[in-house]
This record gives sequence, structure tokens and C-alpha cells, in this order.
Amino acid sequence: MISFRHVSKSFDRGRHFAVDDVSLEVRDGETLVLLGSSGSGKTTLLKLTKRLLEMTSGTIEVDGQDIADLDPIILRRKIGYVFQGIGLFANMTVEENVAIVTRLLGWAREERRSRAHELLELVGLEPAEYADRFPEELSGGQQQRVGVGRALAADPAYLLMDEPFGALDALTRDALQQELLTLKRRLNKTVVFVTHDIFEALTLGDRIAVLHGGHLEQVGTREEILAHPATEFVRDLFGKPAQQLADFGGLL
Ligand SMILES: Nc1ncnc2c1ncn2[C@@H]1O[C@H](COP(=O)(O)OP(=O)(O)O)[C@@H](O)[C@H]1O
Ligand SMILES: [Mg+2]
Repeated sequence: MISFRHVSKSFDRGRHFAVDDVSLEVRDGETLVLLGSSGSGKTTLLKLTKRLLEMTSGTIEVDGQDIADLDPIILRRKIGYVFQGIGLFANMTVEENVAIVTRLLGWAREERRSRAHELLELVGLEPAEYADRFPEELSGGQQQRVGVGRALAADPAYLLMDEPFGALDALTRDALQQELLTLKRRLNKTVVFVTHDIFEALTLGDRIAVLHGGHLEQVGTREEILAHPATEFVRDLFGKPAQQLADFGGLL
């Protein structure tokens, strides 16, 4: 479980808070979607979790341990991270990209290689065909698969995904969303998935946390949020595309 307790982050000594007093629990095995428009603090919250940024106040616990007291190497191994944008290293092959984390962890060459091939198969890329390619020789969807494989390299219990499918065309995105659901059932990870897309949130989230201007507006299942929006903001957010939402099988 990941617990956020009164977590705040200011980049300008408290004049403005990118993340403002967020308290939230991510339960074991669930996919929690962080939903919010650009600038609402989604990426900042993920980076705080992996200590890529230090928070201004509050605490985050992973498996009951305060991350401030955790060895960064242990934290890094527990938490896989799929970066916003593609974020592959252009001068490294697909195999090298997928093996970065295991290299950082000091695995031997042969172990890294066999793990990389296993991961490529897991994300639907035939190693014989793709391992030696460079990122520019892949489609956007294939690059995103490599990003997911890379994040899973050390078999982390938690997977943080920052708008992983945001740059893809709608068909590729739909396919990858479905694959993520399948992969998640197989691997039993706890996933925090960031998106600004309401439909993606409804498709993937066991629960959805709505962020707005660094505040947590509401967290709940899709049914709870649709039936009982906690704030005006949440009501408007889900109310606008109401017609399309009706397609989600009578949830309204
Ligand atoms: N390194 C930084 N320095 C200063 N301000 C930042 C930095 N990173 C993010 N911010 C600000 O924090 C707010 C939240 O940003 P971010 O977490 O990236 O939002 P989101 O991922 O939801 O689009 C924005 O106002 C952004 O400009
Ligand atoms: Mg972001």
C-alpha cells in the first residue's frame, strides 16, 4: 500500500502549491487513476512517491515505511516508473533500454539479457525482431511497450505510469489499454496511472482520484464518482461528456 498523508509540494517557497495537502491511499492490487488537467499536480505527486522530488511537507509511506527513511535503492526497486512522453534513450537499443534498471542494480550481463527478452515478450515485442532496434525504428505504440517493459524490469510491486498512452492515436491507445488490463491481472501489480482523459480513467481505474489545482477533489470508484460527485468541479468534469458516458453501460 502507498499512503499519502497531507502531502504538499511548493516549488516557490510556499507562494503556490503544485500539490496541496493531498491525503490518499493506494490499495494493494488496485489500479488507482490520478485524473486531472494539465498542471493539476499529477506528475509532481508521482515524482514525490519515487523521491525524484522532495516534498515540502507531509509523509508518504510505502508498505508502511516512510519513504524518507527508505534506502533509495530499495525504493527504486519497489516502484517502477513509466515516464510522461516516451522517454526512451535514443542512442540505446530496445534491449539496452529495457535493461537499464537491472544494470543499475548490478545484475550480470547474461541475467540482464534474459530478463530483457522475457520483458519484451511480456509486452508483446518479439525479442528476435525488436531487441536490437533503436527507438526511432519503432512506432509510438511499440516505444510505449518498451517503456512499460523497462518499468517492470526489477519486478516492482508498484507501477507508476505518467500519461503513458497520451501521445498515441486512439486505436493504438485502446489496444494498449486493454493489454494493460490483461497484464495487470497476470502480474498482480499495484498501479498508479496518470491521465487527463476521463474515458481512460473510467476504463482503467478501480478507483479514480480527481486532482484540481493540486487539491484532491474526490477519490472513489467510477460508480461513486458518477453517482455522487463530491464537488462542483467533479460534477462539471464528468457531466460535460454525459452523452458519451451513457455508453458505459448504464453507469449514469
Ligand atoms: N520543476 C518545477 N519547477 C517549478 N514549477 C514546477 C516544476 N514542476 C512542476 N511545476 C509546476 O507545478 C504544477 C503542477 O505540475 P505537474 O505536476 O507537472 O502537473 P501535471 O502533471 O498534472 O500536468 C504546475 O503549475 C507546474 O508549472
Ligand atoms: Mg504531467
